[in-house]
Amino acid sequence: MLVRNLETRDHAPIITVVNDWWGGRPMAGMLPRLFFTHFQPSSFVIEDRGQLVAFLIGFISQTDPAQAYIHFVGVHPGYRAQGLGRQLYQHFFDTVQAQGCQTVRCVTSPVNTGSIAFHTHMGFTAEPGDSTAQGIAITHDYDGPGEHRVRFAKTLG
Ligand SMILES: CC(C)(COP(=O)(O)OP(=O)(O)OC[C@H]1O[C@@H](n2cnc3c(N)ncnc32)[C@H](O)[C@@H]1OP(=O)(O)O)[C@@H](O)C(=O)NCCC(=O)NCCS
Repeated sequence: MLVRNLETRDHAPIITVVNDWWGGRPMAGMLPRLFFTHFQPSSFVIEDRGQLVAFLIGFISQTDPAQAYIHFVGVHPGYRAQGLGRQLYQHFFDTVQAQGCQTVRCVTSPVNTGSIAFHTHMGFTAEPGDSTAQGIAITHDYDGPGEHRVRFAKTLG
């Protein structure tokens, strides 16, 4: 399989499938075209014989260049549990660490138990929140009213 940087042409194919990849949750609106145009050096896709089967969109913080942030990661349902998510994350870690980043952050929804398990396996820890559910710290209304999040961080190196 081929790992390459994200390109603007990936926008349409990804927003077409992303709601299905998230089990029917409406996610496409969180992936405007700007991510595909302006975040290419730190965003990646994996292709299998020309078919896009996994993607990661991330960036180095403009506010604190020692921090990087992963906005989205998705793997085609038929390609899960084969290490593609781990491969994309490791590629991102290597890329941003080479540019001086020491910490990677991301958030996920408390209902996304698969994502919580994945990030825990990838060495992230949940940052303190204002409540706890099933042992995981949750920050209520973090991304707006009703938009609760688990806030994950990982130290590189
Ligand atoms: C979360 C997701 C990206 C994981 O991708 P993946 O390619 O299946 O993950 P990997 O095979 O690389 O797994 C990496 C590790 O995480 C663990 N893991 C991944 N998904 C898991 C799950 N649902 N439950 C438990 N553990 C899981 C694996 O066991 C593996 O652990 P190990 O390497 O220590 O043995 C994928 O399930 C997905 O696209 N989900 C829908 C979109 C989503 O929720 N994205 C994250 C929020 S932005």
